[in-house]
Amino acid sequence: MVIRKAMVKKISQMTADNLLKSPRQTPAWALLEKHAADLQGTSLQTLLDTPDRYSSCSLQLNELCLDYSRQLVTSETLNLLSELAEQTALAEHIELMFSGAHVNLSEDRAALHTALRAAASSNITLNNEDIYPLVETERERFLSFADAVRDGQLKGYGDTRIRQVINIGIGGSDLGPRMLSRALAVADGPVQVDFAAGLDGIELQELLHKADPAATLFIICSKTFTTLETRTNADMARAWLLQRLPEDAVASNFAAVSVNHSALDDFGIAPDARFCIWDWVGGRYSVWSAIGLAVAMTTGSKVFRELLDGAAQMDEHFRVTSFSSNLPVITALLGIWNQNFLGLGQNVVLPYDQRLEYLPDYLQQLVMESEGKGVRRDGMTLDHTTGGALWGGPGSNAQHSFAQWLQQGNASAYITYIATANGSDAALSGAHLLSLANMIAQAETLARGQDEADVRAGLAADGLTSEQIKYLAPQKVHPGNRPSSIILLRSLSPANLGMLLALYEHQVYVQSVIWGINPFDQWGVELGKLQAKTYASALTDKAKDVLPGIGEQLLNWSDT
Ligand code: F6P
Repeated sequence: MVIRKAMVKKISQMTADNLLKSPRQTPAWALLEKHAADLQGTSLQTLLDTPDRYSSCSLQLNELCLDYSRQLVTSETLNLLSELAEQTALAEHIELMFSGAHVNLSEDRAALHTALRAAASSNITLNNEDIYPLVETERERFLSFADAVRDGQLKGYGDTRIRQVINIGIGGSDLGPRMLSRALAVADGPVQVDFAAGLDGIELQELLHKADPAATLFIICSKTFTTLETRTNADMARAWLLQRLPEDAVASNFAAVSVNHSALDDFGIAPDARFCIWDWVGGRYSVWSAIGLAVAMTTGSKVFRELLDGAAQMDEHFRVTSFSSNLPVITALLGIWNQNFLGLGQNVVLPYDQRLEYLPDYLQQLVMESEGKGVRRDGMTLDHTTGGALWGGPGSNAQHSFAQWLQQGNASAYITYIATANGSDAALSGAHLLSLANMIAQAETLARGQDEADVRAGLAADGLTSEQIKYLAPQKVHPGNRPSSIILLRSLSPANLGMLLALYEHQVYVQSVIWGINPFDQWGVELGKLQAKTYASALTDKAKDVLPGIGEQLLNWSDT
């Protein structure tokens, strides 16, 4: 407690005195810039072939292993990056977050998603109140609710067993639940769980087309319950249900997760089907809360608790481990190294396990909505870049779409491969091993490349003429020196998945501390929403003068 108070005082003092200078003003930043210049010309091939490269560039926590041996770093790089972390008061900021300090400065809130998976002994207080009982009560409520639906104890209208759940939400109220349900679903579960997010209602309409009203439970996920996309879809679902069943079907076939109780009253959500979330949990950090109800519907409470335990393991590791062995710190520093010193502004995430096909979408919001900022947490304009673009997709498919760009194009990117040593029981083990072999081959060829001499020798051995070789050789050169990391899970267990997601949450936090930005607000989503209201009215009223040019064309072609 004494440490915490001292840390909070130190940060407050730093903020107050504007001592949170840009990281570019730290001694470490200048040394890193010089080091990056000195590393020019060092090949990844050379680094990879140094003795003990893998053992010195890999870390493990339980059944999660990080292999960063194909990153363009040396031990000096890592030392300088750790100094950068020290010089931006990272340790103090880590403690601040876990302790419930208002690290979300612009909204004056704590960021305590870690409390959602903390042990009873964690003693997390917020405004002098121990919040563990609050979290535990709500967790027991939504997990019991899910189990009751799954085993038929809790029925839909007319005592009909619930067979389908449709989660209606968007952003953090969709991406996490959707990704985890996909990753952890088992064949022939008692409940089919689907998701509808898009404002145009097509996703929902397609689901409603085949749904049985009395056997369908809608979960409306919206912290604010004012998000246009979610309200539009929720109202559409409610109207659909009440065209088929009486008014009290809303109470039996809807549930909601929100802080907006008056809106839930108006909608008709039954008290026992309401689950709360708190303002100290950001949307993109909320899947551990009742926002994860759809996940629990897919997996049951036991698996969901294992997911929470995995995240808690990563929390503890993050909080107590020295930087050099700290997985979130190392992955964060590697991202800063690639982004700010090697100019690689894109992080391509390629899972080699189809069950993780929605993981890049989830990480995209977590990383880009947290790090896509232009000013520091104290309002000063940034004098360096922050979070770049994160995108990706299933690795096997990528090999037949954008891997060409990664291998030979002007890819200003670094890649994170994510795989499981043991694949799904559904997959033939031989196929899974082939998939892993391809992932390793992709990482190796990105790193080592193939020079023209090697290409020429291969073409000659294939019997091509010198004319053919002269033309074809340059086309087949792989430049190499393209960095990547591999995150390997022993299996896609709930605990390992929980560790992985928490790893990324803390990676984002570390980067935000070093960059001096607030990762927990998202002011950039507001202006567009406001403008949309103006244009919606203009389109409805066919007010061409209010609309930009394309609006007029839209109205000319519109059949409505
Ligand atoms: O994109 C803005 C945002 O506020 C996200 O941060 C959030 O996850 C999403 O919209 C949905 O918000 P809500 O859960 O309040 O509907």
